[in-house]
Amino acid sequence: MTTHATQPFEGQKPGTSGLRKKTPVFMQPNYLENFIQATFDAIGGVAGKVLVLGGDGRYFGAEAAQVILKMAAAGGAARVIVGQGAWLSTPAASNLIRRRGADGGLILSASHNPGGPNEDFGVKYNMANGGPAPEAVTEAIFARTKVITEYAKLEAPDVNLTMPGESRLGAMVVEVVDPVADYADMMEEIFDFNALRGLFHTGFTMRMDSMCAITGPYAVEIFENRLGAPRGTVAHEVPLPDFGGMHPDPNPTWAHALMAEMMAEDGPDFGAASDGDGDRNMILGRGTYVSPSDSLAVIAANAHLVPGYAEGLKGVARSMPTSAAVDRVAAALGIDCYETPTGWKFFGNLMDAGRVSLCGEESFGTGSDHVREKDGLWAVLMWLNIIAARGQSVAEIMADHFARFGRNYYSRHDYEALPSDQANAMLDDLRDRMDGLKGKTYQGLTVESSDEFSYTDPVDGSVSARQGFRILFAGGSRVVLRLSGTGTEGATLRVYLERYAPGPEGLAEDPQQALAPIVAATEEIVGIRARTGRTGPDVIT
Ligand code: G1P
Ligand code: ZN
Repeated sequence: MTTHATQPFEGQKPGTSGLRKKTPVFMQPNYLENFIQATFDAIGGVAGKVLVLGGDGRYFGAEAAQVILKMAAAGGAARVIVGQGAWLSTPAASNLIRRRGADGGLILSASHNPGGPNEDFGVKYNMANGGPAPEAVTEAIFARTKVITEYAKLEAPDVNLTMPGESRLGAMVVEVVDPVADYADMMEEIFDFNALRGLFHTGFTMRMDSMCAITGPYAVEIFENRLGAPRGTVAHEVPLPDFGGMHPDPNPTWAHALMAEMMAEDGPDFGAASDGDGDRNMILGRGTYVSPSDSLAVIAANAHLVPGYAEGLKGVARSMPTSAAVDRVAAALGIDCYETPTGWKFFGNLMDAGRVSLCGEESFGTGSDHVREKDGLWAVLMWLNIIAARGQSVAEIMADHFARFGRNYYSRHDYEALPSDQANAMLDDLRDRMDGLKGKTYQGLTVESSDEFSYTDPVDGSVSARQGFRILFAGGSRVVLRLSGTGTEGATLRVYLERYAPGPEGLAEDPQQALAPIVAATEEIVGIRARTGRTGPDVIT
């Protein structure tokens, strides 16, 4: 074991979901080591502990795994359970931590950000419950990164991670496991695989786009091997270090090939995509795009049709910028609905306390208390199971849902890579004017209330302030603005737009048209285009 002297790096502050930086930043000497040592220090060391390790297969992941193994061995860890090839999807890692009773885990991923030598890399620490470290822990990690002077590493050859089995690194056991098996088994426990096999047997067609990222092997095993979907149902099924140049973010912009296929008249019955590390999902039917907020609401309304949730949901939670569509379902079901800040880590306490069993975010994240991460393939299976149980198409299910609950038109507009000082100044100005907006009318919309969201965790009482600006207009429309906490270039402004249509009229408008008045009012209030010189958002979801 060698102790290496080091110096702090600026900016090793974990964001919405771990530390994400450009790959070359992570590959600088000591950069990864500092962050890992700071993480180990912040959790009270790893002596005697069992950890899970794996990632989405992106560039530098395999090398980073070797560094982490040697540092864990130097720290006295008892065992590290590693996915074969250093692969584990984020939900599979969460599941492994829970099933194996591990003390925590490290996930090597920058999620939906592109990968490669000049793209993004990331590291995230998850707790013993399988969920992302809460803010108290990420703050402690950040604090350690600022004062770190040394780290310890075992000097040893690399561990062979290409085959399942056990080996030793010093006194520490390295257990390499099949990354897919436990996860696929869990899915068989939750869903009615017989009904799903029946669905594919009768010629139901599906396209799953794994975007050259980690869900490929999982999706092939589940849909093709276990459920009998035809070979080739899963596209881009081989994980590649640079995701084949794809931007592995399952949204209409980045999954455009899938979108085109699904919008064709002879497209498959059902389509889905997932992101780099497998926790996000996009749901499509032939000719139908399901917005993530609506997907959450539909899943909530139909969960009882799925064996794993046959007894009903304990409660639901959504991030604040997610539309209120699920709130209406919760009200109809008579269950609690929680509103949390952006980021999956805020759902953990609610699930651990047994208050909610279903959670979701507008950012293509849906999941339940089967793990403590959002789970892309789980969401796809929820939809398949609901389709099988209802015997309806995606379009029919959506139409029924809107007719019953009304429709929350929703869209997110992202302005990417803005100069940070410009974006900060714009929101600082807005903060100063927040209190004065109430009662004023912009483009015919009257502000009913406005605030900066602050969250008090109902379980542990911790407070997370400054979680986004929300402006509510009379009639149930609203706009939310916040800066991304996952971007690696400048600042990304996210503008979340929502308008409620109770029906029965006006349920089939184009969302961008339905939301145009709110876009105009937002421009009048915030002056995004005027201040940034941009003519419009870079990404619309
Ligand atoms: C984004 C999403 C957020 C999600 C996170 C991790 O964070 O908006 O909902 O939890 O990625 O997948 P943001 O960049 O907005 O901070
Ligand atoms: Zn992800």
